Parts: sequence; structure tokens; C-alpha cells
Amino acid sequence: MNNQKRILIWDLPTRIFHWLLALGFSIAALLAFVAGEDSPLFPYHAIIGLILALMVVLRVLWGFIGSRHARFSSFAFGPSAVVEYLGGVLRGRGVHHAGHNPGSAWAIFAMLGLIFGLSITGLLLGQGNKGLKDVHEVLAYAMLAVVVLHVLGVVIHTVRHRENIVASMIHGRKDVDAQAGIAASYRVVGLIFCILSATWAVGLLRNYDAATQTTRLPLVGVSVQIGEVEDMGQSDHQKEHGEYD
Ligand code: HEM
Ligand code: HEM
Repeated sequence: MNNQKRILIWDLPTRIFHWLLALGFSIAALLAFVAGEDSPLFPYHAIIGLILALMVVLRVLWGFIGSRHARFSSFAFGPSAVVEYLGGVLRGRGVHHAGHNPGSAWAIFAMLGLIFGLSITGLLLGQGNKGLKDVHEVLAYAMLAVVVLHVLGVVIHTVRHRENIVASMIHGRKDVDAQAGIAASYRVVGLIFCILSATWAVGLLRNYDAATQTTRLPLVGVSVQIGEVEDMGQSDHQKEHGEYD
């Protein structure tokens, strides 16, 4: 028991990913739900969504090759483990985990999948696939719901275990057994993650053309439609012609 010390649990790439994802999703959701489709800022929700998509791809890669607690295999819990864990939480006996617990693990997989789904449906929507609008919106609401449950889970854990896990997601450390720790914080990987994400973000923003509502994916070079082009001007013009001819 007394061999519990401040031990490094979360590597730097995971921590940077977490807070950028939380910030990015919050802004994208505000632009989509609050500002709405008529706002001139609306296309930026799609650009932020595409930035998050790359970050999720990088996080998934890190999930296979990253440090112990960032690796998916360390938190790939089956349904029975989740039911047992959540049952324990309800009875006030949630088992403590150094890394992700079964409940948060499922929320994490859901959030990674939902961001990816939002990007794919968003891109197809832009290509004129209007039938996907409802799916895109349902995914956005589902993501909001999982985020609320996630934050609720964090609050319950913080109170129940008297452990400041929000601070742990910032400095990476927890008071756990020494054997649970990781050897390094992988700063170079964190730096590479930031450079790739920033290059992608700057490229998307630079290539954005408000007149055509398109942007070009950096590195890939493919142009994508991220919103509707206003064709009001043309139809007004035609109407006018109709009147005066
Ligand atoms: C839009 C908002 C948010 C999203 C999308 C989000 C997403 C995530 C994801 C994907 C992870 C897993 C990290 C990884 O292994 O890569 C995670 C973990 C975590 N998040 Fe969030 N998060 C959000 C907001 C927050 C907020 C506001 C807090 C603090 C109150 C928070 C605290 C944490 C903590 C403490 C963990 C580690 C959980 C554990 O011990 O298993 N998150 N979050
Ligand atoms: C974080 C990710 C995202 C969230 C939370 C999100 C959310 C939303 C929401 C709530 C709407 C409906 C807005 C309204 O009815 O006023 C919407 C519409 C739309 N989104 Fe997203 N979105 C995301 C990512 C994307 C991406 C990556 C793209 C494109 C690359 C995209 C393209 C679109 C388009 C084109 C519409 C308008 C649909 C239409 O009315 O024709 N979104 N989004």
C-alpha cells in the first residue's frame, strides 16, 4: 500500500490529444449547434472536424504502438467487465484502475468512432448526399451524450476515489503502484503529433475557399466540398430576367 507514489501514467501525445480533442469538439459543436448553418462561421465546424479526424487517426495508430496505458490492448474490456465495473460504481464500490477503467474505456472507443463517423458523413454530405444529414446530426447528438457521460464519470471517479484525475490528464502522473507506471513521456512523439496536426490544420484553413465552399486536403491534395454554395444570386437573376423579358 505504501509503495504508492506519483507515477507517470499518461504519455505526452495522449495528454495533448485529449485536450486538443476536447477543445476542438467543443468549438465545432458550438459552431454547428449554436451559430448554425446560416452563420458565416459554419464552414469552420467542418474544418475543425477534419482536423480532429486526422488527430483521431494518429491516436488510433498510437493505440497500437504507444505506451502501456495508451495502447488499446490495455483497455479493451469486454461487455461483462463493463457491466461488473458499472455495477460496482452504482453500489459505491468501483474498483480503482491505474489506466482507463472499463466504463471510461467504452466511452473512449465510442468518442473516437463518433468523431470519425462525423467526418465521413460530413464529407459525404458536402458531396451532395443530403440523405445523410440526419445521420450526421444523430452522430453529433450521440457524441454530445457520450461526452456528458464521460465528464460525469470523471466527476464520480474524482469524488469516489478522492483522486484528481483531471490534473493527471495534464501532468500525466497518478498515485499508484510503481509497477503501473510508464518509463517515458514520449516527448518527441508529442512534438511530431503537434507538427502533423498543425500542418494539416494550417493547410485546411489556407486552402479554404469561401466562394466555392471547398478546401483541399493537405498532403493528400484532394479537394472537398464542406458546405453549400449560395445559388441565390443566380436564381434572383433568372427571376429578374423572367420579369423583364
Ligand atoms: C469535448 C470534451 C471531451 C472529449 C471529446 C474527451 C475525450 C476523451 C478521450 C478520447 C479520452 C481518452 C484519452 C486517450 O486515451 O486518448 C479521455 C480521457 C479522459 N478525459 Fe476526457 N474528453 C472531454 C472532456 C473532458 C473534460 C472536460 C475533462 C475534465 C473534467 C476530461 C477528463 C478526462 C480524464 C480525467 C480522462 C482519463 C480518464 C480515465 O482515467 O480513464 N475530459 N477523454
Ligand atoms: C466535430 C465534428 C462535427 C460536428 C459536431 C458536426 C455537427 C453538425 C450539426 C449539428 C449539423 C446540423 C447543423 C444545422 O442543422 O444547423 C451539421 C451540418 C453539417 N455538417 Fe457537420 N459536424 C461535424 C463535422 C463535420 C465535417 C468534418 C464536415 C465536412 C467535412 C461536416 C459537414 C457538414 C455539412 C455540409 C452540414 C450541412 C448539412 C446541410 O444542411 O446540408 N461536418 N454538422
